[in-house]
Amino acid sequence: MDLVLRNATLADGRSGIDVGVAGGRIAAVEARLPLQGAREIDAGGDLLSAPFVDAHFHMDATLSYGLPRVNQSGTLLEGIALWGELKPQLAQEALIERALQYCDWAVARGLLAIRTHVDICDDRLLAVEALLEVKRRVAPYLDLQLVAFPQDGLLRSPSAFDNLKRAIVMGVDVVGGIPHFERTMAQGAESVRLLCEFAAERGLRVDMHCDESDDPLSRHIETLAYETWRLGLQGRVAGSHLTSMHSMDNYYVSKLLPLIAESGVAAIANPLINITLQGRHDSYPKRRGMTRVPELLAAGVDVAFGHDCVMDPWYGMGSGDMLEVAHMGLHVAQMTGQAAMLQCYQAITDTPARILGLEGYGIAPGCNADFVLLDASSPVEAIRLRAARRLVVRRGQVVAEAPRAAAALHLAGRPGTVDFRIRR
Ligand code: FE2
Repeated sequence: MDLVLRNATLADGRSGIDVGVAGGRIAAVEARLPLQGAREIDAGGDLLSAPFVDAHFHMDATLSYGLPRVNQSGTLLEGIALWGELKPQLAQEALIERALQYCDWAVARGLLAIRTHVDICDDRLLAVEALLEVKRRVAPYLDLQLVAFPQDGLLRSPSAFDNLKRAIVMGVDVVGGIPHFERTMAQGAESVRLLCEFAAERGLRVDMHCDESDDPLSRHIETLAYETWRLGLQGRVAGSHLTSMHSMDNYYVSKLLPLIAESGVAAIANPLINITLQGRHDSYPKRRGMTRVPELLAAGVDVAFGHDCVMDPWYGMGSGDMLEVAHMGLHVAQMTGQAAMLQCYQAITDTPARILGLEGYGIAPGCNADFVLLDASSPVEAIRLRAARRLVVRRGQVVAEAPRAAAALHLAGRPGTVDFRIRR
């Protein structure tokens, strides 16, 4: 064995587990593995998890906060307008550098797979070229999946569909869309049909920004589910955001949820962004705006949580920490039951891995030797503490390390150090 990591706790609750790695793959997962490793690591009972996966991100915009100016209102629409101002000024090298810096942050946070949308409405396709280059450079340590995203509308922006097709030819992986941003409901539905047919012809996956609105009548998810079912795209399509569902009539939702489940469309909520951008036209009470996560899960729909934005025209916070995303999702969706908290952890690990179609993902023999050792004893504790990532391993190689979270106390009559775990 190249590496043996001993005495780990797994996300499914098994403890005292040793994991053996050979040739970049997991060779054994069992209690008291009798084989020696060239390198041995004592996990000390800590949680060994498959790496975090972000199902929804915008790497072409990340770390551009303040360029060319900050978003004064903090709204979605000012963010889109600001991005429109920034686009003509984008320099490829600077974009690549910002994206690479974000990938460094991601790796340090144990985030080893990201699906990023890339805006294709700039006829130069400069961001597409840049992110394809980033994808090549980070491939040894991070899986980057690109979505061709018509930010200004597929039908509303004259060259968007041609550009989207060019981007796919250049190597972009997934077909994106933004039906609620088209000029009319009918054009929104038309864009969904066109994009799904294009994806079906090419055998591609689909991930649309869909109904990112507080308008309860924004129902493009219905069309997305229908087209997915009609074209046999089950299991290959995701609807991102789906925030209008928060405000929809309950009777209509009772019809909609089984249709989504039947179509095999996955849902991707973006808790940090939904809670900050939705409900902006409300006075009080203010709607939370996030889609109906527990209800979707109960209907049998895959639901992942995405980060969406970090330090960009829409959001001036974030550091690539998917545990922060899960923490916010848990709160906004009121998923505080024990099983629900575990579902929040799955929404940043197993579920997005399935949505992205990642191969060799997981802690099991034959899987890629990609994992994260967390300063926590369970997934719920990892979310609670946004636990330090003690070790991040990619294909059997340690790619990042961080110390445990602890603080020195200087209190009379109290022990000298404190950590934030409950040790029983
Ligand atoms: Fe997005």
